[in-house]
Amino acid sequence: MTRSAPAPHSSTYLLGSSTAEHRRLLAQGDLLREAARSLLSRLPLPDQARAIDVGCGPQGILDLLSDKVGPRGTVVGLDNDEQMITWARESIANLSLPNVSTTLGTLSGDSEPAFDLTHCRLLLINSADPEAIVASMAAATRPGGWIAVQEYDWATWQCDPPHPAWDTLKTLLASVFGGDVHIGARLPSLLRDVAGCPYVHTMAHTFYWRAVNPYQRLLLHFAGLFGERLHGRGLDPHTLATLTRELGDHLAHPATVVRESLLVQAWGRKP
Ligand SMILES: C[S@@+](CC[C@H](N)C(=O)[O-])C[C@H]1O[C@@H](n2cnc3c(N)ncnc32)[C@H](O)[C@@H]1O
Repeated sequence: MTRSAPAPHSSTYLLGSSTAEHRRLLAQGDLLREAARSLLSRLPLPDQARAIDVGCGPQGILDLLSDKVGPRGTVVGLDNDEQMITWARESIANLSLPNVSTTLGTLSGDSEPAFDLTHCRLLLINSADPEAIVASMAAATRPGGWIAVQEYDWATWQCDPPHPAWDTLKTLLASVFGGDVHIGARLPSLLRDVAGCPYVHTMAHTFYWRAVNPYQRLLLHFAGLFGERLHGRGLDPHTLATLTRELGDHLAHPATVVRESLLVQAWGRKP
């Protein structure tokens, strides 16, 4: 089914597995919970269904999948980062999810078709080869089963009023992020052409923030995380500090509104 990761260094997650990222992913999961619940409500599953959350991180949607498949079904949380799997096990224990297990590793392209639902959220956007992941998800899905993907498209991520520091930092960050920050826009064709789903369903969600909400400053958080990469793109530390300060002041203003990236959901059945 899956290929076990031989060592923790096989992790490819550029945002890292710090305690800050752990907190951020759990908070983001809370934010996106209703959207995920709505997606799952559209996917009829058989009795004793098997589901997998690929790149589950510290929790992903394991609790929602557990609920979805019920006590006779089973769920696997898969991640190639050892720390993430440790945290996922903590979540499973804290939330008492007896039908959920974890695996450290990645899906392989020659996986047995073992799942009625193969899901990933915010995995492809961090990947250098999203096609390979989608192909492996399709391979792991039983004929008639569902492949469901939730990914961001940074296109809608804007601040109003606009600010030049936002535009500069967003453009530079997109170039060093490590994956396609507009992958959300490509989900229908990925599921059709790579996963082979004859009909792809789509839905999208977004949010608006003001200064009181921590998400208002997510772009600045990423600028802090990717400082060295930005320097590598020719942005000297002094200019980065100036851009960060100017944008921080702008985002702290009570009148400034940030529109979040678009969360695109796409799902289809494997023939
Ligand atoms: C942005 S996090 C998203 C976590 C979770 N899906 C969620 O929505 O909260 C991406 C996760 O995918 C994992 N990951 C990255 N590439 C992977 C791969 N090829 N196979 C399995 N997990 C992977 C990372 O270790 C990280 O935990």
